[in-house]
Amino acid sequence: MNMNIMNVDYSTKIPNNVNLSEDRQVLKALEGWHPGYIDWWNDMGPEGFQQSLVYLRTAYSVDPRGWAKFDYVKMPDYRWGILLAPQEENRKIPFGEHYGEPAWQEVPGEYRAMLRRLVVIQGDTEPASVEQQRHLGKTAPSLYDLRNLFQVNVEEGRHLWAMVYLLQKYFGRDGREEADELLRRRSGDEDSPRMLGAFNEKTPDWLSFFMFTYFTDRDGKMQLHSLAQSGFDPLSRTCRFMLTEEAHHMFVGETGITRVVQRTCDAMREAGITDPSDIAKVRALGVIDLPTIQKKLNLHYSLSLDLFGSEVSTNAANAFNAGIKGRYHETQIEDDHQLKNATYPVLKLINGEARRVDEPALTALNMRLRDDYTQDCVKGMLRWNKVISTADYDYKLTLPNVAFNRAIGEFKDVHATPDGILIDDATWTKRKGEWIPSRDDGEFIASLMTPVTEPGQFASWIAAPKVGIDNKPGDFEYVKIET
Ligand SMILES: [Fe+2]
Ligand SMILES: [Fe+2]
Repeated sequence: MNMNIMNVDYSTKIPNNVNLSEDRQVLKALEGWHPGYIDWWNDMGPEGFQQSLVYLRTAYSVDPRGWAKFDYVKMPDYRWGILLAPQEENRKIPFGEHYGEPAWQEVPGEYRAMLRRLVVIQGDTEPASVEQQRHLGKTAPSLYDLRNLFQVNVEEGRHLWAMVYLLQKYFGRDGREEADELLRRRSGDEDSPRMLGAFNEKTPDWLSFFMFTYFTDRDGKMQLHSLAQSGFDPLSRTCRFMLTEEAHHMFVGETGITRVVQRTCDAMREAGITDPSDIAKVRALGVIDLPTIQKKLNLHYSLSLDLFGSEVSTNAANAFNAGIKGRYHETQIEDDHQLKNATYPVLKLINGEARRVDEPALTALNMRLRDDYTQDCVKGMLRWNKVISTADYDYKLTLPNVAFNRAIGEFKDVHATPDGILIDDATWTKRKGEWIPSRDDGEFIASLMTPVTEPGQFASWIAAPKVGIDNKPGDFEYVKIET
């Protein structure tokens, strides 16, 4: 492999492995965009801590065997760069009508609008999550967690750069306009919100942050995997490297929830509590009861399912036919990769019941990706439930039914319990507080969110991690807070 492509050039203002210094026009466009990005980071990035030294990783290479370097960095000085996975020689388009043709190095004219839209939608989610999480630094349960939050934030910022590079390099004037728009929209803003629902929700507390990084970043993983299959090679290479970073975001979510569950179980055992549903008793211990964790999970999982769009979608079919957006692990699937006569069982609402009905596989691609996502979500559930059963409690966290709390797709017009039983509006209004966090639940969790900034110390409601970042010891000062 070519070392120039593996290693990142840090001599330029914008670190990159795409030879920016010889690509004057794009370099100029990116340099023009840079100040607006820094303004956005200052306005909408983490509140406070901008002068603190944070122990962050920065990518210096795109070699999967060793690509990151850890060091103390002030966040505004983070080197946001343009990093593409190495080009695969003679790569072929792995699906759709152009199956087997050489991958495109330039945007094919007929698919320009479709491609631009996909890049913009992906790009929009990246700064959105930073905006949603900007106030969390003030209530971090430890320096370890504070550092992880900031790592996720700076990398989402880099993912924005990744999409902006594609827009500016390959989409000319409208690409540059879209790049500016990405800095203009704001999560939750009434007049110019972010493009997708879940990215306009609040992330009010750290349990939400862990649920978000587990469930919503995992939607990102699925989308990136599908785009990593793209016949448009620069998009594929960009997404492949983003996935390397994304893995840590989901690690933060999975282990974060594990640690919350662990601490709750430990506290219940120490106090001799036998019924995990005795909410008042559990909360009195200063930990989050399992039923409330389940409610948060119900909320974040259902919001994340909406991100997959309608179960049956001609847009998804068009993007697949065009060779723009493939399936999860496309190259490992054994079929014609064109879905000519294939069908896929799609969940539909029939006579008040969710049932699988065969649809043409081409139009069912969103459903398929969502099914892959659900399977991926289950893994963490098993770990969390292992913690609960090991502590000898008879309680299981579960994923709610797909019909539960949906705003998009087949189930958007009905109400259902987490078990999937359809209920009327009145029952939903009366009982939804049993299934998604109520104001009381929110206030209780908020009451626990007091910051802990002593190295090696953790808030009452969360266990210490098993291992440190970059193998650092338990009392390592991950953030040197500027006072
Ligand atoms: Fe991202
Ligand atoms: Fe992420």
